[in-house]
Amino acid sequence: MLPWKLQQSHSGKGLQKVDEELAPLSAYLGVLGLTGITAYVGLTNIGDLKKGETLLVSGASGAVGSVVGQIGKIKGCNVVGIAGSNTKVDLMKGKFGFNKGINYKTTKDMKTAIKEACPNGVDVYFDNVGGEILDAALANINRYGRVINCGAISLYNKTETPTGPRHETILVKKSVKMQGFIVSDFQDQFEETTKQLGRWLQEGKLTYSETVKEGFDNIPNAFMGLFEGENEGKMVVKI
Ligand SMILES: NC(=O)c1ccc[n+]([C@@H]2O[C@H](COP(=O)([O-])OP(=O)(O)OC[C@H]3O[C@@H](n4cnc5c(N)ncnc54)[C@H](OP(=O)(O)O)[C@@H]3O)[C@@H](O)[C@H]2O)c1
Repeated sequence: MLPWKLQQSHSGKGLQKVDEELAPLSAYLGVLGLTGITAYVGLTNIGDLKKGETLLVSGASGAVGSVVGQIGKIKGCNVVGIAGSNTKVDLMKGKFGFNKGINYKTTKDMKTAIKEACPNGVDVYFDNVGGEILDAALANINRYGRVINCGAISLYNKTETPTGPRHETILVKKSVKMQGFIVSDFQDQFEETTKQLGRWLQEGKLTYSETVKEGFDNIPNAFMGLFEGENEGKMVVKI
């Protein structure tokens, strides 16, 4: 959470010591850092995920999404991911073990594509992107479904907020819970969550990908690359 600077000066208060024996340092920016924690606390506190349910996740080959889907598999769920290329779909189904993947960039009708990929409907939708993909997910949500609003990257750079379909009737008729969160809401769970993610990593139940760019001057490019889908897993800049 420190600013982008070549030299940092800090009292040390609030900094966390990390264990280089357990995982490479960069993992503490991703799967064992705020990214992994975001996936875990969102799924457990809001998603109330149960074995056998269908979990749909967007931004699914990215840093948060790839951990969400893998936790879904650990919990015994049917996991379907949405991402922006066929390579990313292969990554989700291969390395991350998802059941199915949808490439939203080559799919004309997302509502139908989700229906086909989730024949029993969607019990939990972990939303990293918002917008039209959220609309399509909600059109397939089951009774008592849960929608976890983690991010809305499809809207971050819009100069005007687009209007979409009204979701109120779906939420009411299907008794759906839809809740946003910021990871820091669950600060009291960080320590335990990091331990759990570390255990899964050691046991080989959890894995991760990184896209690494080199050099301090590349930080803005790397950041902007997130909006173009340039990353698989966590976008990391090595200095
Ligand atoms: N609530 C919290 O506390 C919290 C904490 C951390 C992150 N977040 C949010 O969680 C989301 C994921 O973060 P992350 O760090 O894991 O990023 P990420 O998923 O690793 O990277 C962003 C990905 O978003 C996808 N994307 C970009 N523009 C898109 C669009 N218009 N429509 C659909 N997908 C698009 C791209 O993949 P494709 O190739 O698939 O398009 C890109 O790789 C972000 O929205 C972020 O703001 C929230």
